[in-house]
Amino acid sequence: MKKFLFLVGARPQIIKFAALQPHLKYADLSFILVHSGQHYDPELSENFFHELDIKSPDYNLDAGSSSHAQQTASIMVSLEKVVENVKPDYGVVFGDTNTTLAGALVFSKMGIPLVHIEAGLRSFNRKMPEEINRIVTDRLSHILFAPSERARENLSKEGINQNVYVTGDLHYDLFRLMEKHLNETHIELPFTDRFAFLTLHREENTKNPDFVNTLLYELEKTNTHVIFPCHPRTYSLLKNREFKYIHILPPVSYIKTLWYIKNSFIVITDSGGVQKEAFYLKKPVIIARSETEWIEIVELGYGKLVGKDINKTIELMQNPWSKGTFQEVYGDGKAGEKIASILSKL
Ligand code: UD1
Ligand code: UDP
Repeated sequence: MKKFLFLVGARPQIIKFAALQPHLKYADLSFILVHSGQHYDPELSENFFHELDIKSPDYNLDAGSSSHAQQTASIMVSLEKVVENVKPDYGVVFGDTNTTLAGALVFSKMGIPLVHIEAGLRSFNRKMPEEINRIVTDRLSHILFAPSERARENLSKEGINQNVYVTGDLHYDLFRLMEKHLNETHIELPFTDRFAFLTLHREENTKNPDFVNTLLYELEKTNTHVIFPCHPRTYSLLKNREFKYIHILPPVSYIKTLWYIKNSFIVITDSGGVQKEAFYLKKPVIIARSETEWIEIVELGYGKLVGKDINKTIELMQNPWSKGTFQEVYGDGKAGEKIASILSKL
């Protein structure tokens, strides 16, 4: 029986693994789970293991936070030892973080075939660290699971055509599963008016603290309630943490995130996952980025790209556009089943 080493490390990867895990068990795959330790605060990591019933990692590499090079290198050095010990037949990485890149380099250099889940996404902006991680990882991968036809086309344009499978998005699987629990969930709000849901953490938006602080200041002036679960990276930049209309929270659970999105009238975000969840819940989403690798959301009329244009953000929030057309462009909610089935036949 083939042995798989799954590497996670950041919040969205833990969430994606949660969608895949039941299918790995069902397909009777032999696997071990390694956590890089890139995210270590309980609200970004451990809490999801409990909430989404994920097995405890077999190894935690405790990489923590540092510069891109230090973080990537630290994961690489520790992962190499684990791979020597475990001797997996395949190394599996998710998405586009530094954990993904570190795994791609270590597995490739150690001659372990690399599997990339969420392959083929491109923002076409190489200033974005994640874009570099995606390009390198896809180039090195032996098996590529793409979330959409567009992702497959992107790979094809780069000459990557072998062993590419369009499976859909693991986030959509989990969304479909958890959506059922949304009706049983209720969060008491300290107000009765409508509200926007905000998340921000991208390097391009947090490099300059002025952007985040000015955005919050301008949002407050609109007298519209905003629920803002704040990534620690962003929280550390805030000059003011006490607002009347902006409700700053620590990062919240997955089901609470879905609940807030579902009950908001609009979403403002630079997150890949939150963009998709807004789309899955058919909410208009103001994308605080100049481009998105989830371009279908814009094409189908749910997303508007605003970059760092705060005036535009406020204008769109105050005048939300009419909804787009929902299509299952990111699969049918069976990505996990498809991925596990392909892996079990290797
Ligand atoms: C990382 C990913 C990003 C992904 C995001 C998911 C890279 C290059 N970026 O961004 O693609 O969208 O995760 O959330 O891999 N910090 C804490 N506690 C933690 C983790 C981080 O306080 O548990 C703070 C530290 O100050 C750290 C900063 O957040 O320096 C950034 O963390 P890092 O993991 O480097 O990047 P993210 O912004 O989380
Ligand atoms: N998320 C969460 N709690 C929060 C904010 C986000 O559970 O307070 C979830 C969200 O539902 C989505 C994922 O985290 O599934 C997105 O992760 P993140 O924004 O950190 O990274 P990205 O998707 O941009 O890489």
